[in-house]
Amino acid sequence: MSLDRLLTWIPPGSPDETLARQVDFERLPVHVAIIMDGNGRWAAQRHLPRIEGHRAGIDSVRDVVESSARVGIDVLTLYAFSVENWKRPRTEVNTLMTLLKRYLRLELDTLLKNNIRFRVIGRSEELSPDVRHELDIGIRQTANNTGMQFNIALNYGGRAEIVDAARRAIAAGIPADELDEHRFGDFLYTAGQPDPDLLIRTSGEMRVSNFLLWQIAYSEIWVTETLWPDFRCRHLLEAILAYQKRDRRYGGIHTAPVALGVE
Ligand code: FPP
Repeated sequence: MSLDRLLTWIPPGSPDETLARQVDFERLPVHVAIIMDGNGRWAAQRHLPRIEGHRAGIDSVRDVVESSARVGIDVLTLYAFSVENWKRPRTEVNTLMTLLKRYLRLELDTLLKNNIRFRVIGRSEELSPDVRHELDIGIRQTANNTGMQFNIALNYGGRAEIVDAARRAIAAGIPADELDEHRFGDFLYTAGQPDPDLLIRTSGEMRVSNFLLWQIAYSEIWVTETLWPDFRCRHLLEAILAYQKRDRRYGGIHTAPVALGVE
């Protein structure tokens, strides 16, 4: 992706343009994962019901999915609903599912236009048939797209994913002495996808909340005070710029990876 292409979409003279001009498009994070947090607080600040925060959060999802594809991110994973989120009041859970279905219905054209491939990670088989139906349509219709991979983590738990992967490896009859980290990765929901380079969390909480526990082993973490419904392209660009200033060492020493030219 080039700066010129991104600039055709960004309002001239905006803070986004200033940020975009600083990005090194040769060193983008390949996979960006986001813990979308703060919808409830955003609503509370405005004396609105929590569901209004989720509704506003959909605009952020729309903006960030399109921005990520335009910036040139290869994989974007959004944490939409955790295995623990079923503990929320029934009306809130129902609203989240309704918003998700509506998002998929309304945004399918945009996903297709932007060549985005959509997938779900998590125990999707436990979701209700109407939600699964909508997800299946999105997955099927975007299956041949070759651009950004967009994962929605739904009914997702990092520990549940590791347990599911272990069960699958056993069911596949993999002998214990042949099971190493590389092979194990083939049984995760994200099989075949690179691990996140950059994990973003909104609303200032310093937690990983059971998200992609296996895959974030070496991810750079960037936390912003911005609440998810306020998160837009410029925040994504800020996160990318912060990421590009980091010295990724993967447990090695300071300068060797840079000197060798390997990220
Ligand atoms: C966290 O805010 C947000 C969620 C649990 C749900 C995020 C889901 C959406 C934005 C809608 C559906 C998603 C997609 C991808 C279409 P919170 O309620 O925990 O906020 P709080 O911590 O301020 O209470």
